[in-house]
Amino acid sequence: MNTTFIRDGIYWIGVHDYTTWLFEGMWPIDQEGVNYNSYLINDDKVILIDTVKEYMAEEYIENIKSIIGDKKVDYLVVNHMEPDHSSCILAVTNEWPDVKIIGNKKTFPMIRNFYEYNKNFIEIENGQKLDLGGRELQFFLTPMVHWPESMVTFDVQSGTLFSMDIFGSYKATVGSIFDDENEVETFLEPTYRYYATIVGKVTEMAKKSLEALTPLVPSISMICPSHGLVWRTDPNYILNLYIKLANAEVDEGVVIAYATMYGNTRESAEIIADELRKCGVKKILMYDVSRTNMSYILASIWRYQGIFLGAPSYYGQILPSMENLLYKLEGNKLRNHVCGFFTDFSWSGGANRVFDKFIQNTGAYCPGEMVNVQGYPNKDDEEKLREMARAVAQKLIK
Ligand code: FEO
Repeated sequence: MNTTFIRDGIYWIGVHDYTTWLFEGMWPIDQEGVNYNSYLINDDKVILIDTVKEYMAEEYIENIKSIIGDKKVDYLVVNHMEPDHSSCILAVTNEWPDVKIIGNKKTFPMIRNFYEYNKNFIEIENGQKLDLGGRELQFFLTPMVHWPESMVTFDVQSGTLFSMDIFGSYKATVGSIFDDENEVETFLEPTYRYYATIVGKVTEMAKKSLEALTPLVPSISMICPSHGLVWRTDPNYILNLYIKLANAEVDEGVVIAYATMYGNTRESAEIIADELRKCGVKKILMYDVSRTNMSYILASIWRYQGIFLGAPSYYGQILPSMENLLYKLEGNKLRNHVCGFFTDFSWSGGANRVFDKFIQNTGAYCPGEMVNVQGYPNKDDEEKLREMARAVAQKLIK
């Protein structure tokens, strides 16, 4: 059994996933795991807030029964239809066939398509309140954060915001789900990585949703997201962090992400790092994009202001491992960054043209000239790389 009483009749009935290797088939969670947080309000009526991933269905249903005994589940609020939270809907309806499902007009077509289930739906509008046996819940639509049907639920009695993916993070909670019983700093990098990979592309919508929720903030005493910690003591910590993330506010520091085939592009990256040190930059993170899952690079890029991207040409194009990163970065956009680009080629270019197009598409701010090295960087190349590094360093926040 794995449930935790929170307060005001609210229970955490989530599960820890240490089995999945790649979240969404892309983002590694094998080292730290992830939580699928589901919640239960045990009052005059029994209300579930979201479910968990299907392969834990049996444990999930047993956990619910361990709290409510012979009572039945009356309502299931579906804040979000991504299967990490919705794929136990049928497990719930099979066990308690009269359960009423609360969602919005974009939720129900998805339930029909995903699960061929089509009854007992209660459709809510943005801002609507429902009295569920004396427990008043209010619903706010947060479209595209992270899917079109996404919404959050506010429990008026306890001041709890069930925030779905918003305010979530990677990393399973070990031992306790509560912010005050964890070192919250250990969730900082997993929160950046989660935001950059899951929310990054829709950050403008996240910003709008956070702005729309602003009038609710004074009433929020606790934030219960679908991933990561339950913020019962310091909800402002995660609220302020998400506002920072949604506004793409960057910290002091530089990320150098390079692809290399025989080490020449890496040598250019080392020269840039050396010059940055001479300019007084202390926080420098260097990644080989072929060796590091891009989620870690995206997280660092979301966080730090300076970005250098370097890659060799490859059959008139760019090495594919860098192309993947560029694809995702074009979605995430480079907003408050200062950038530099460098390439390597043996007999003809290609990477430089790909970078030029990327700069054009994203509007990346580049105070220095791109450096294109043929083979191993010679003295002239080295001076150009150092010049570019100095140009970026001069624009960095201190
Ligand atoms: Fe955790 Fe968008 O699902």
